Amino acid sequence: MSVTLADWNGEVMPLEDVKVSVLDRGFLFGDGIYEALRVYGGKPFLLREHMDRLKRSLKEVSIDADVDAFEKRTLNLLAKSGIKEGLIYQQVTRGVYPRVHKYPPKGTKPNELVWVKEFTETPFAEFRESGAAVVTVPDLRWKRCDIKSINLLGNCMAAEAAAQAGCQEALLIAEDGSIVEGSHTSAFGVKDGRVWTMPLGPNILPGITRALVLKLANRANIEVIERSLLKSELGQIDELFLTGTTSEVLPVTKVDGHGVGTGKAGPVTLRLVAEYQKEIDELVRS
Ligand code: PDD
Repeated sequence: MSVTLADWNGEVMPLEDVKVSVLDRGFLFGDGIYEALRVYGGKPFLLREHMDRLKRSLKEVSIDADVDAFEKRTLNLLAKSGIKEGLIYQQVTRGVYPRVHKYPPKGTKPNELVWVKEFTETPFAEFRESGAAVVTVPDLRWKRCDIKSINLLGNCMAAEAAAQAGCQEALLIAEDGSIVEGSHTSAFGVKDGRVWTMPLGPNILPGITRALVLKLANRANIEVIERSLLKSELGQIDELFLTGTTSEVLPVTKVDGHGVGTGKAGPVTLRLVAEYQKEIDELVRS
């Protein structure tokens, strides 16, 4: 197996050699921010968008990191790795300090980690045509899911419930019955040719893939309604799909064991899968 390269606070080393203090606030409190982005043809996909979201998340929790320098180090690491089809993981925690809940004094150095690994196929590739199966679970997470926090226990619990049910993803359901998002994906329904999705707000991550797919839908004259569907409406929708950096555009054909629409990936979803692929092809050609 090839060695995964990491940049740990400016030092390049094999990922397995990175050592972190148990007093790192990410370790103790989940006090940190992360990003994950795809590499196609050796180029980072939607880099600007990911870096802007990283800056915003860090600002929301007052972690003072130099994101521009971090971006440069990320690109250097990617070049050094020589990886063509990959995944970049970036994480910034508030750093090391004796355990107290309040933030440590200004000047405490954040811990900055990035690694690049081979990622030749998405874990969901085999479901791209047949469609994935999902389960619904209550959304147990906190009230600032717009911040890309490394504190993902609620998401992990949901993903595990999906795995236990033999499914690929979990749909998180709010108390009012609306479909919020997936454990690590954004969720969309299609009804009468229109795409429905939860509007941006503190309850969902502003997905980079979500934003691109909405742009592609617009361009393809597919109407988008930023209003969430209810779980109780699932029986009446034609198509369901998920989006995310690692999942790309993923049709869903089963929810809690029941078929969605015709039980096959639908035409609107497949159009968006194709449009998304064109964006990747364009990046690779550029
Ligand atoms: N997850 N919603 C949640 C809760 C997520 O964790 C993610 C991404 C998304 C999709 O966002 P984007 O299109 O920007 O990847 C939506 C990443 C990939 C992860 O946790 O690995």
